[in-house]
Parts: sequence; structure tokens; C-alpha cells
Amino acid sequence: MRVLGIESSCDETGIALYDTDKGLLAHALYSQIELHAEYGGVVPELASRDHIRKALPLINQVLTQAKLKRNDIDAVAYTAGPGLVGALLVGAAIGRSIAWALDKPAIAINHMEGHLLSPLLEQNPPSFPFVSLLVSGGHTLLVDVKGVGQYELLGESIDDAVGEAFDKTAKMLGLGYPGGPILAKIAEQGTPDKYQFPRPMTNRPGLDFSFSGLKTFAMNTWLASEQSEQDQADIALAFQTAAVDTLIIKCKRALKQTRHKTIVVAGGVSANTALRSSLNALPNINAYFPRPEFCSDNGAMIAFAGAMRQSAMTKQDKPTFAARPRWPLDQLKPA
Ligand code: KG4
Ligand code: ZN
Repeated sequence: MRVLGIESSCDETGIALYDTDKGLLAHALYSQIELHAEYGGVVPELASRDHIRKALPLINQVLTQAKLKRNDIDAVAYTAGPGLVGALLVGAAIGRSIAWALDKPAIAINHMEGHLLSPLLEQNPPSFPFVSLLVSGGHTLLVDVKGVGQYELLGESIDDAVGEAFDKTAKMLGLGYPGGPILAKIAEQGTPDKYQFPRPMTNRPGLDFSFSGLKTFAMNTWLASEQSEQDQADIALAFQTAAVDTLIIKCKRALKQTRHKTIVVAGGVSANTALRSSLNALPNINAYFPRPEFCSDNGAMIAFAGAMRQSAMTKQDKPTFAARPRWPLDQLKPA
């Protein structure tokens, strides 16, 4: 079965073709970073319009790459939420229309489930059950994963997502957009232990996170400094070290609580090398990640999630669809 995947929940148009026998056939990504850079963040209306411009050409490109015709598509998977509603509606409308025209099933995929399953696209994928740490610009989630669609939420951020805290701290340090990867790069020049930042919510039980205080701590440290390039690097490193440490403390707790021996990390922040090496260093635990290009939003994870849920794909019976700006993972049904 060949599944066309369409991702358009935020500022990336991602398209892919996944074959349940042969694996990933082709994928393409268009990032809107340049479009939004001058505004310092994603402008939803501009994002929607750009998805409209890019989705169909990318679908054609991916079909050409895979040497396939439209009729070779057996099902269409599209991101239906969570995300920006206008952007989601573009992918949903295009995905549903193609499925309708081809008389093939269409399936609405949860974007966070796409991230969660993305490490399974790699060779030697993890096996269930495992703890999943989902770290993106909009979410910080710890999930007990027993199978596809069997998700128990263990903890989440009560305020900023960790990626959001990276982005806001980077912006405040004058590092540009999107800040996370830039901050991580600058942190390489930082002096270790120059500053000690707090590890929020780690001295009380539970698996929830809070990152907005860390961002404020970074701001106050910056304002009290001479604001030199070295101060930028030192603060970036102190922030990153504290954020990663906080994530690791909670991951260890979640692994202990569930007794799972496997941690699977995904979402934009899973590209962070400090986070990766700290997780790889956990004793007696196996850590799995997506390849760097599939950490952030992409079509491959949506095509793959669609393939994992092919049993849920029934012939569509009515030409209606909905986008869900909010869509908690634990509301999903098992595959
Ligand atoms: O998963 P994603 O592409 O989009 C959402 O679904 O939100 O995640 C984007 C987030 C941004 O906040 C970005 O700054 C962060 O991931 N990010 C990073 C790194 N690469 C991307 N944060 C820290 N270190 C990185 N290397
Ligand atoms: Zn994402």
C-alpha cells in the first residue's frame, strides 16, 4: 500500500510517499523560514497562503521522484491537527480532494502522533512499549506508548513548550529566528559553569514541566550582563544545559515509573545534540531518535503514521473534513 503524506500544520510544507512493503519512497520539504523571518515568528495567514502555493508542486515532485503516477496512490494521510487552523485546512482540503478524486481513502493524522512515530522510520526501530519524549515548538510531552494509538500522557508543560523557550530566549539574546538551532550553535562557544540556571519543577514529584521561568531567568541574567558576544554564548549554554538537564531528570523519572527500558525522542528539539548525548548516556536505557531532517516537521512522518493506521482507513463516505487546532494525543484510538 502506498500512502501519500501531507504535512501543513505550521511553517513547513512536507510531502512524502511511504510504501508499506518498500518503506519511504520519496519525500520533499519546503520551509517557510525566510518568509516569516522578517516578522520574528510565524504569521498564520502568510503560512496558509504559502502552503497553497507549494503543496501541489511538491506532490508532483515526489511522484516524479518515486516514478509513480497519481493513480498509484492507495491512500492519502494529512495532518488534521494540532496546529494553525488555516494552515491545517490547506493540507486537509488538498488531501481530501485528491483522495476523493482518486476514490481512495483519506485519513486525518494527529501531528504529534506523526512526531511520536517518526523514529520508527529508521533502521533498527524501537519496539513497544516505550517512553516517548516529544519536544517541539508547541509541545513538551512525556507519553507512555504501548502501541500505535495507545498513548497515556505522563506529563506536559504547564506553560511554554521547551522549543518555544529556546526560541524566546534566542530572540531576547538577539539571535534571530528560528532561535532554537541558532542558540544551540552559539552555546558551543559558552563557558561551562559560568552561570547556574534553575531546573524548574524538579524538586517536587510529578512529570510536568515549566519552562517560562527559565526564559525569564535568562533574560534577567542578560540584562545584568555587559551583553557582549561572550555573554550571549555563556547564557545560551547555561540555558541549554538547564533545559536539557530538566528534560533528562523527568525522562529518568518516567522510565522508572513505567519500568520501560526504552526512550524515544522526537520533535524539533530532538535535533539538539546536547539532549541527544545526555539521553545516549543514560545507563541501561536505549535511546532512539529520528534522523536530523525528520526531527522537525516533515511529510514522511505523516505518510508513515497513515500507513500504521491503514486499518482505520475506510472508504470515505462523505466529502467533509475538519481541522483541529487542539487535539490531545490521549484522545486517539488504537490502530
Ligand atoms: O517539531 P517542530 O519542527 O515544529 C513544531 O511542531 O513545533 O519544532 C520546532 C522547534 C522550534 O522551537 C525550534 O527552535 C526547535 O524545535 N529546534 C531546536 C533545535 N532545532 C530545532 N531547539 C533546540 N536545539 C536545536 N538544535
Ligand atoms: Zn511539529
